[in-house]
Amino acid sequence: MIQFPEDFLWGAATAAYQIEGAWNQGGRGLSIWDTYSHTPGKIRNGDNGDTACDSYHRYEEDIAYMKELGLRTYRFSIAWSRIFPDGTGAVNEEGLDYYHRLVDELLENGIEPFCTLYHWDLPQALQDTGGWKNRNTIDAFVGYAETMFKAFQGKIKFWTTFNEPWCVSFKAHYIGDLAPGEQNLQSALDVAHHLMLAHGRTVKLFRQSGVPGQIGYAPNVSWREPFSSRQEDIDACRRRIGWMVEWFLDPLFKGEYPEFMTAAFAAMGAEVRVEPGDMEDIRQPVDFLGINYYTGSLGLYKQDHGLFGLEDIDEGYERTDFNWPIYPHGLYKVLVHVKDRYGPVPIYITENGACYDGDPVEGRVQDVKRIKYLSQHLLQLKRAMEDGVTVKGYMTWSLLDNFEWADGYSRRFGLIHVDFNTLKRTPKDSFYWYKKVIGNGWIET
Ligand code: NOJ
Repeated sequence: MIQFPEDFLWGAATAAYQIEGAWNQGGRGLSIWDTYSHTPGKIRNGDNGDTACDSYHRYEEDIAYMKELGLRTYRFSIAWSRIFPDGTGAVNEEGLDYYHRLVDELLENGIEPFCTLYHWDLPQALQDTGGWKNRNTIDAFVGYAETMFKAFQGKIKFWTTFNEPWCVSFKAHYIGDLAPGEQNLQSALDVAHHLMLAHGRTVKLFRQSGVPGQIGYAPNVSWREPFSSRQEDIDACRRRIGWMVEWFLDPLFKGEYPEFMTAAFAAMGAEVRVEPGDMEDIRQPVDFLGINYYTGSLGLYKQDHGLFGLEDIDEGYERTDFNWPIYPHGLYKVLVHVKDRYGPVPIYITENGACYDGDPVEGRVQDVKRIKYLSQHLLQLKRAMEDGVTVKGYMTWSLLDNFEWADGYSRRFGLIHVDFNTLKRTPKDSFYWYKKVIGNGWIET
């Protein structure tokens, strides 16, 4: 039996574009995800988020499920283009009103709102002027954040600036399979820097505003364990981890970029472009760090392989239906690494979960593999806590099956099954398992 603290914040997470639907209702403006998903060939099966789970209309039903589950917190995101249809300018009151209704309903049900300001859906109007490559987008974001802090002060106590800045920069601007879908390393570095600046300036403003609550940031991390004790394997794994962890955390905690990574990028002809005052702005103490963790593996140095000369080695791991290796040990490793490098910052696991297909059979989804995945990761989480990592809560991805970005509706991560034709919700076996975990405060091993 693995026991968790009494005040542990058990939760589940979603994001606006992935669940809300109602893409052209309530005065909402277009976001880059509307544009991207409406572009033929970008999304598997031609799916888009126009309707998604229709949570814009069904949020009360969703919250009733959260209540039944016993969630202490619900991590959701706000669609910037519902508040400012063009990214800046006049507030769209109807959009604000939707989030007030959502947050009020959560509070009435005793569920703590845990809000992400940016989960990838940049207003298209800002993309049209360069998106995150343009420093003006930083000001627009800070303006949007300020509006939200004022509107929800006293109601929302947990704020996260950015979800997965690595995805927003490198995946969306270098690898190119997320909106806006660019493939340029220099653009990715510029975007990453601007996201961190927007983060830092937002934290500064939050402190100055005196709004009560906590503010943090939620990078996605994974882990690579060196295949051997050869220095070249160690260095290649180090660069791979440095790309996701140090690149996005050293500036916040140390006020500088890690040299081993600037050197690695320079070797590829790209550089981080820092203006005077930027690093001071970025280095703002956060109240917590959100960590999104899904996968990892062993890594072997291989010349000219991938961005950093690293090949992932499959040690025969089981994989989820997304083909991601299941590597719970990596969660422990990365948490200890973060603590050793940055000190005892409070951590919330803002995402962890598994993709498994499966439709209801006689009203039941027997997702035993998801239950196994979640308990293996909770076990490693507890190990990290025992070794001195301050973990204050855990939010599984996701409450509901939803729109999985470029993979559309083909990938299911939910505790609750959604039939995307009828929008009917069916709690899976993992829902009832998690309910027991939350109720008891422990898991069986
Ligand atoms: C990370 C993202 O934050 C979320 O939007 C996505 O659905 C999950 N990982 C699963 O890929």
